[in-house]
Amino acid sequence: MLDKIKICVIGAGHLGQSILGGLFAHGVPAKNIYATSLDKNILEQLEAKHHINVATQNTDVVAQCDVVLIAVKPQHVAGVATEIKDSIAEHQSLLMSAAAGISMQLLQQWFSQNDAIVRCMPNTPALVQQGATALFANEQVNDQQKDIAYQIMRAVGEVVWVNSDAEMDIVTALSGSGPAYLFLMAEAMQAAAEKLGLNPEVAKILTPQTILGAGMMLKHSDSDAATLRQQVTSPGGTTAAALQKFTAENFSEIVFHAIKAAANRAKELAHDLR
Ligand SMILES: NC(=O)c1ccc[n+]([C@@H]2O[C@H](COP(=O)([O-])OP(=O)(O)OC[C@H]3O[C@@H](n4cnc5c(N)ncnc54)[C@H](OP(=O)(O)O)[C@@H]3O)[C@@H](O)[C@H]2O)c1
Repeated sequence: MLDKIKICVIGAGHLGQSILGGLFAHGVPAKNIYATSLDKNILEQLEAKHHINVATQNTDVVAQCDVVLIAVKPQHVAGVATEIKDSIAEHQSLLMSAAAGISMQLLQQWFSQNDAIVRCMPNTPALVQQGATALFANEQVNDQQKDIAYQIMRAVGEVVWVNSDAEMDIVTALSGSGPAYLFLMAEAMQAAAEKLGLNPEVAKILTPQTILGAGMMLKHSDSDAATLRQQVTSPGGTTAAALQKFTAENFSEIVFHAIKAAANRAKELAHDLR
C-alpha cells in the first residue's frame, strides 16, 4: 500500500532521516517521497543519494502529499502548523506527528479537529530500524489511513496502537525514554566489571551483546521476563547472588518511581507547550 501514496517528512533530522531510511528499505518509490528541512546541505545529500523530492519551504510540497509526517522539534510544531494547516485541511491529508509531548489535544488545536491526525511516539532505536512506536489516532482517521500510519512506522520497528494521550505519556516514559534507562544499565554494568578488574575492551563487547541477546530472547520467547529470569537463576548461584542484592536495594521500586517521574514530566511538558 505504501508504494501508492505520497509521503512528506517535515524536518529531515535524526528521526526524519531514519523514517526515510525505513521507507527506502521497504521499497517506497523515491518519486513518492518528499522531505523538508531548514538545512539545505541535508536536502542536497538526500536528493543526490536517494533522488527524493526536497524543499526548504514546507508549503511547496505539503499539498502534493497524502501523508504529512511532522518530525521537527516540539517547539517548532506550532510554527509548522501555522504554515501548513490550510493545506492539510483542503487536501484532507493524513497528518502524523512524532513530536514528543505534543498531545492530540494540542495538535487538534493547532491544526483542526476535523483533520485526520495520528500521534506517534517512536524511540531512538528507530535509527537502526529497531524502534518501538506507539500510535494514537483521532476519530477522523479511517481504517485505510490507520493502516498507512502503521506501515510507515513499521518501517522502523515494532508498532502498537493506544487509545489516549494519557497512555501516550506512559509510553513516552516506558519506550520513548526507555533506551536511556538501558544505556544507564549498560554504563553501570560495564563500569562494575571494569572496577572488578575486567579488561575494558572485553567489557565493551560483552555488555551490549548481553543486553541485545536478552532483549532478543524476551521478544521471541513464549515465556515472560519473570519466567526467563527464573530459568537463569539457580538457587545459591551467581545470578541469585546478584538478584538478591537488586531486591534488597528495591530495584523494582526505583524503576517504578523513575518511570512515574518520566510520565509526570511528559504531562507537564504538554501543559507547558499549550
Ligand atoms: N530522535 C528520536 O529518536 C525521536 C524519538 C521520538 C520522538 N522524536 C521526536 O521527533 C522530532 C524530531 O527529533 P530529532 O531528534 O529528529 O530532531 P532533529 O534531528 O533536530 O530534527 C529536526 C529537523 O527539523 C528541521 N526543522 C526545524 N524547523 C523546521 C521547519 N519549520 N520546517 C522543516 N524542517 C524544520 C531541523 O532543521 P535545523 O536543524 O536546521 O533546525 C532538523 O533538521 C522531535 O519532536 C522529537 O520529540 C524523536
